Amino acid sequence: MMEVTFHNRELEMKEIRDILGMKPRLITFIYGPINSGKTELINQLVEQLPEDYKVFYINLRGRFVSNYDDFIKVLFDVEHEARYERIKEFLGPIVNVLPESYYGIPIPKDMFLKLFREKEVEDAFVYIETVLRAFYESGRAPVLVIDELQVIGDLKIDGLLIYKLFNFFVRLTKELHLAHVFVVTSDSLFLEQVYSEAMLEGRSDYLLVDDFDYETTSVFLDKYGLNDTEKERALEYCGGKPVYLVKLVNTKISGGNIAAKSERMLEEEISKLIFMLARNKEVKSDIVELLSIFASVEKVKYSDNMDLDLLSFLVRQNILFIDPVERTIKPQSRLNLLAIREVLKNA
Ligand SMILES: Nc1ncnc2c1ncn2[C@@H]1O[C@H](COP(=O)(O)OP(=O)(O)OP(=O)(O)O)[C@@H](O)[C@H]1O
Ligand SMILES: [Mg+2]
Repeated sequence: MMEVTFHNRELEMKEIRDILGMKPRLITFIYGPINSGKTELINQLVEQLPEDYKVFYINLRGRFVSNYDDFIKVLFDVEHEARYERIKEFLGPIVNVLPESYYGIPIPKDMFLKLFREKEVEDAFVYIETVLRAFYESGRAPVLVIDELQVIGDLKIDGLLIYKLFNFFVRLTKELHLAHVFVVTSDSLFLEQVYSEAMLEGRSDYLLVDDFDYETTSVFLDKYGLNDTEKERALEYCGGKPVYLVKLVNTKISGGNIAAKSERMLEEEISKLIFMLARNKEVKSDIVELLSIFASVEKVKYSDNMDLDLLSFLVRQNILFIDPVERTIKPQSRLNLLAIREVLKNA
């Protein structure tokens, strides 16, 4: 059976490759609406990168991080002695024997136990820096990617951890030019905080990975043989949201009905919105009023008469996406937009 494969992200790929082609100077924040394909893009990139790069990819999604031990566990990929008996010496050997599939920062178990007994975050950073340097000196440019960093946004380990991390990333990039650092997030409130963070001023760069544009979506749908009516339907309901488009394409591949499927997907979004309003009766009329901007437009520019608390609430509910760089606000997806319009009609 036909399978959906990775689809054109040439522009974003090129931007990232260009960054990787230069010496590390800035922390790059990769952001975008939910399910826009950020993680998929990174995965694809990692697969395509030549041997001269060594990627450490750490995904905090679904990881429960509430203290120092949890945090250390997600950062490191602890090698078990049995498997790595031969590692007697510290870094030289690590560079040579580690399998490519390792994603976290590699560390032999005995060293892990010894090093982090004191529970000092700085020890972890010193160790990571040493590992990165070892790869750097062996001719492989280290690339550190942290996906869903907002998971530790509020975590305190003797002060806010996120600040220590940012400081560490600034050191790796701007000061030492030792490793490329990418931070991926779909949490636009987190990104907004990051964006206004003085500590990162002039030390960070922002790369938007949005849903596919019209042209890219159209080519994607052609690839899987949707006819004109089906294509029009897909574009109208799902816009360029990869995850939804994949659903429709899979429906097509398995001989299902695209019109019915997309209608069900919209109905689901409408239900979510209706229940969200029902659960928040006190602010229902304010929400409806705010959302009514989208009756006629798809995207608005932020203006200071907007209620930022309410906006933040709708972002947390995964209904709206704020782009703090462009200062724009839009529904998280085309389906969200259609659901909003439908609900407004009856509000
Ligand atoms: N370029 C692409 N080609 C084909 N399918 C894609 C592409 N990008 C994303 N997808 C599909 O969309 C799904 C969601 O993508 P992905 O998880 O990368 O989004 P994300 O932006 O990381 O989401 P989140 O906001 O939840 O982190 C993937 O599982 C994949 O099926
Ligand atoms: Mg992701």
